[in-house]
Amino acid sequence: MSQLPRISREVRLATVPAGLPRAEDFTVVEVPLPVPGDGEVLVRNRFFLVFAALRTLLGGGVKGTPFPPILPGDTLFGAAIGEVVTAPDGSGLRPGDLVSHRLGWREYAVLAAADCTPLGDALPDPVAHLAQGRTAYGALTRGAKVGPGDTVFVSGGAGSVGSLAGRIAKLLGAERVIGSTGSPEKAKRMVAELGYDAAIVRGAGPLTEQLAVAAPDGIDVLFDNVAGEDLRAAVAAARTGARFVLVGALSGQLAKDGSGNAAPVELDAYQLILKQITMRGYSAMGDPEVQPEWIDRFGGWLRSGAIDFPYVRVEGIAQAPQALHEMMTGRHLGTVVVAL
Ligand SMILES: NC(=O)c1ccc[n+]([C@@H]2O[C@H](COP(=O)([O-])OP(=O)(O)OC[C@H]3O[C@@H](n4cnc5c(N)ncnc54)[C@H](OP(=O)(O)O)[C@@H]3O)[C@@H](O)[C@H]2O)c1
Repeated sequence: MSQLPRISREVRLATVPAGLPRAEDFTVVEVPLPVPGDGEVLVRNRFFLVFAALRTLLGGGVKGTPFPPILPGDTLFGAAIGEVVTAPDGSGLRPGDLVSHRLGWREYAVLAAADCTPLGDALPDPVAHLAQGRTAYGALTRGAKVGPGDTVFVSGGAGSVGSLAGRIAKLLGAERVIGSTGSPEKAKRMVAELGYDAAIVRGAGPLTEQLAVAAPDGIDVLFDNVAGEDLRAAVAAARTGARFVLVGALSGQLAKDGSGNAAPVELDAYQLILKQITMRGYSAMGDPEVQPEWIDRFGGWLRSGAIDFPYVRVEGIAQAPQALHEMMTGRHLGTVVVAL
């Protein structure tokens, strides 16, 4: 305990952003080191996740979202990996244990022992616990039931969820996997590094036309992170009986204007009917049973080299607000992680 600092730093919302969040919308403040109460654990954070869904929480939130809104003065939160500093007797946790929890965006966190999940050694690298692959795996196996021979379109295929969804689809037997992204440079990297057979580019001509070229025989599955134009293109490309799983709505969430809290899209109902498309939403939080299966398979795939965890590492909490801005404006490929 004698080596502990007296202060901890954390990232707070300063003002509700007008448009996409910029670094100036946040402050990195110093606070007294938090003191654990009865039954609580003190954790020194080592990594935390920079994620798109924060946009919807800043100043409001989508109706039904299972997280509270983040208002000016509030400290941000989200998935984190930390090291136990002190833990109550009988909690099963010991100093030095690595745990995952939901109080990222701060150097030190105090939380109930029950809210800390020990990492164990299922994954070869602790930072891989911040991968969003559980969502990708759950939606592909439970939502769309991807199997051998499928042609799969992953919209938003270069992001945190999407960068793993393409690879996982291939590992589940998909024959051809196409992704969408926002820049030609990322499209090239998706094919070279993320296992995609082809990538189409938002803003480089109608996606419907690009997808028709990339998937001349149509698609069996849509894994949708985006909605908007990507979803319309998927309807146009769908084969009879195609399965669509809706996971995210980046077209509304990360729109430069608007609140980020709605993602309206106009679809031709005739095409949904004629092609007998099934469409379902998937929420990882609504599917906790998938977690042990995912961790087991992810660990095996990482160790065998069948998959990697594509992520960008940002050093230090002072850089976190800028990292959030860069992630939301499409600067990075894969998951963005702040290392402390
Ligand atoms: N259902 C669930 O359980 C669940 C779980 C986790 C996440 N999600 C949701 O899944 C989606 C993907 O999450 P993520 O964490 O992987 O985010 P992400 O894709 O890493 O988000 C950042 C990326 O979004 C893309 N982007 C930026 N502006 C865009 C726009 N106007 N239209 C389309 N794409 C844009 C950019 O990629 P490009 O430059 O490549 O376009 C950017 O790099 C989000 O909507 C998230 O809330 C759902």
